[in-house]
Amino acid sequence: MIIVEGLTRWYGPVAALRDVSFRIETGEIVGFLGPNGAGKSTAMKILTGSVAPSAGTASLAGCDILSEPAAVRRRVGFMPEQVVLYPDQTVRELLDFVAVLKGVPTAGRREHLDDIVGRCGLRDVAGKLVGSLSHGYRKRAGLAQALVGDPEILILDEPTSGLDPQQIVGIRELIRSFKGHRTVLLSSHILTEVEATCSRVLILNRGRLVGQQGAEGVAASDLAGLAGGPVRVILDWDGNREGVAAALAEVAGVDEIRISETGAEVLIAGNPVEIRPKLVESVLAAGGQLQGVQDKGPSLEDLFLRLTGANLGPDEPSRQTDDPEES
Ligand SMILES: Nc1ncnc2c1ncn2[C@@H]1O[C@H](COP(=O)(O)OP(=O)(O)OP(=O)(O)O)[C@@H](O)[C@H]1O
Ligand SMILES: [Mg+2]
Repeated sequence: MIIVEGLTRWYGPVAALRDVSFRIETGEIVGFLGPNGAGKSTAMKILTGSVAPSAGTASLAGCDILSEPAAVRRRVGFMPEQVVLYPDQTVRELLDFVAVLKGVPTAGRREHLDDIVGRCGLRDVAGKLVGSLSHGYRKRAGLAQALVGDPEILILDEPTSGLDPQQIVGIRELIRSFKGHRTVLLSSHILTEVEATCSRVLILNRGRLVGQQGAEGVAASDLAGLAGGPVRVILDWDGNREGVAAALAEVAGVDEIRISETGAEVLIAGNPVEIRPKLVESVLAAGGQLQGVQDKGPSLEDLFLRLTGANLGPDEPSRQTDDPEES
């Protein structure tokens, strides 16, 4: 179980985290969503003892981060955002090293590490130097070292960013398999990823938990609904550009058509399951050669806009200049 109470972290005048409280029950997989600079990594670093809080406290598996940091480290596997590994160790040596640090018993250690190497797709590079690994493999090594010692709690900072699509699927499945017997907090920028792996989502913006749900977060299954906005169907076709676009505009349930270079993005107001086949039919009927159909749900940007009323554009100020003494 993870219990977080009033965590606050100031970096000079910037509040990276402000009075954040939440609970994660044993066996739950919970996601952290939030734009760049929201405080996700800061919270994770505090929970794993690499950054001290300015105020507040937390306990993981019953151990307090301030008074029992060593006990926390033994019980928690942490995959940081920037995986810092010893470059002149092989992957296997790295895992052995972490196993010693975590006090994994010698008996069964080899099998345990073999299992992790396999699950993280590292067999081919187990003998390679960590410093020579590509970004994706380095991420996998970062996940592997977090799994050493079978920690009951896992804190994973953007575990799938930079992985190839096949690995993303594999790692998500691996994370899902922890459900019920490990407590997991992971961060992500991908709405569909947290929907697929987490039961609940905590949304951070500028250091605070947002939304009326606050510390309760949002059920992952409610995310798309909360994000609202129309479902978009992307259609690509060859031939008869204008004729097909005009025909699409006539389909019942079509809200708006945005012409693209290869076809159009169609914003639909009704049920996509019913409307999508009609769109396809009308492309063909108007003489277009269909090249692709793709659904796009509401985006993370839509979700944040709804929950915070704030735009996430690059101009959004990320600094808070409140006086720390006043908080
Ligand atoms: N070491 C540091 N020194 C100064 N400011 C920092 C430091 N680390 C983080 N910050 C600031 O704290 C805020 C939160 O950063 P944090 O890395 O926790 O965000 P994040 O949610 O993980 O973002 P991202 O999605 O980009 O990973 C940002 O404004 C960041 O600039
Ligand atoms: Mg981060």
